[in-house]
Amino acid sequence: MTLFDVYPINNINIVKARGSYVWDDNDIKYLDMYGGHAVISIGHTHPHWVRRIEEQLNNIAFYSNSIKIPLQQQLAEKLGKISGKENYQLFLCNSGAEANENALKLASFHNGRKKIVAFTKAFHGRTSLAVAATDNPNIVAPVNETDNIVFLPFNDENALEEYFDKNANEISSVIIEGIQGVGGINVATATFLQKIRSLCDKYNAVFIADSVQCGYGRSGKFFSHDYSDVTADIYTMAKGMGNGFPVGGIIIAPHIKPKHFMLGTTFGGNHLACAAALAVLEVIESENLMSNAQSVGEHLMNELKNIPELQNVRGRGLMIGFDVPEELKDLKKNLLWKHHIFTGEAKPNVIRLLPSLALTKEEADKCIDAIKKEISVLKNSLNIAKANEHNSSLKNAPLGVRGL
Ligand SMILES: Cc1ncc(COP(=O)(O)O)c(C=O)c1O
Repeated sequence: MTLFDVYPINNINIVKARGSYVWDDNDIKYLDMYGGHAVISIGHTHPHWVRRIEEQLNNIAFYSNSIKIPLQQQLAEKLGKISGKENYQLFLCNSGAEANENALKLASFHNGRKKIVAFTKAFHGRTSLAVAATDNPNIVAPVNETDNIVFLPFNDENALEEYFDKNANEISSVIIEGIQGVGGINVATATFLQKIRSLCDKYNAVFIADSVQCGYGRSGKFFSHDYSDVTADIYTMAKGMGNGFPVGGIIIAPHIKPKHFMLGTTFGGNHLACAAALAVLEVIESENLMSNAQSVGEHLMNELKNIPELQNVRGRGLMIGFDVPEELKDLKKNLLWKHHIFTGEAKPNVIRLLPSLALTKEEADKCIDAIKKEISVLKNSLNIAKANEHNSSLKNAPLGVRGL
């Protein structure tokens, strides 16, 4: 059997990982500024996380949701405390798409409506409703197409207001990433998020904050939406929640009431996943990782802004993006192969930095130094190529032009 070939991959076999570093099978060490796609929150193979999972594994890894699982309640309490959403309700699942799928479905159960407002460049996952609410027709199969989703321009308050004015009684929910990840690190403005809040309140629609990538402390606050002082009705989470152990979840405001069997899952909330998720929250708290993300992120962003060749440096905390001009398009590739630094990307020309929230200032500086060095090498070779081109065009030019 072969693998179903859906990913263009780098020919690297990672066999070991610690903190912000990973090693390949030739023992080459890489700085991980990509965090395995924003998944590594507390650092690779954090000892507390490993210990907690190991201990749980030796007791019980899984039993179905037909019994009491006290670890779920412990997780709910810890999550409530750290996120400041103590009166919310937790539903556990296994991935980001599943979290969004459940959130959209729950919103529709809640208000009995069908229309979902999503935004340009949004990414919400690859399952049926989640992918339909994702602004990328290439990954929406014909069977996922639905008239229930409308895409409005991101950060455009007038367009949103106008749509609500005309369709208010049909709108079930509005789903938005506080900082778009796959879309290229685009930060939702405070006034836009506040407008969503007030329209949802006015028309009884559900505000869903997709925090799968931008949540769990990555922005420097637990939810990136917190920067705008708004409270969503449902927050969706995954990625950093398990630091690599597959776990996702949604937290739900108290006015949205559960009914038996309206949602369900076989694996969601299993003992092992809860142990991993608890370990993550314990480390975020004991190592002050949100404030680390804020300060190291700010340092990284300031340093990047001082590199004149990089454009539109943006983001919050350790969720940072910048545009790379066409003549430096090999920057990402060379950072990986020459400097052994993993970074993320977004089409067409964005580099995304999504490292562990425990990234140190020294590690951030290592990345900055490599970026500066590589830009200078790329510019030099560009200048040499330009000079060669100029010389050869002079050689071929008539004598008068050559100035002889
Ligand atoms: C904002 C956002 N939502 C949802 C998802 C889907 O998560 P998963 O791949 O775990 O299904 C992603 C994944 O990149 C994401 O960035």
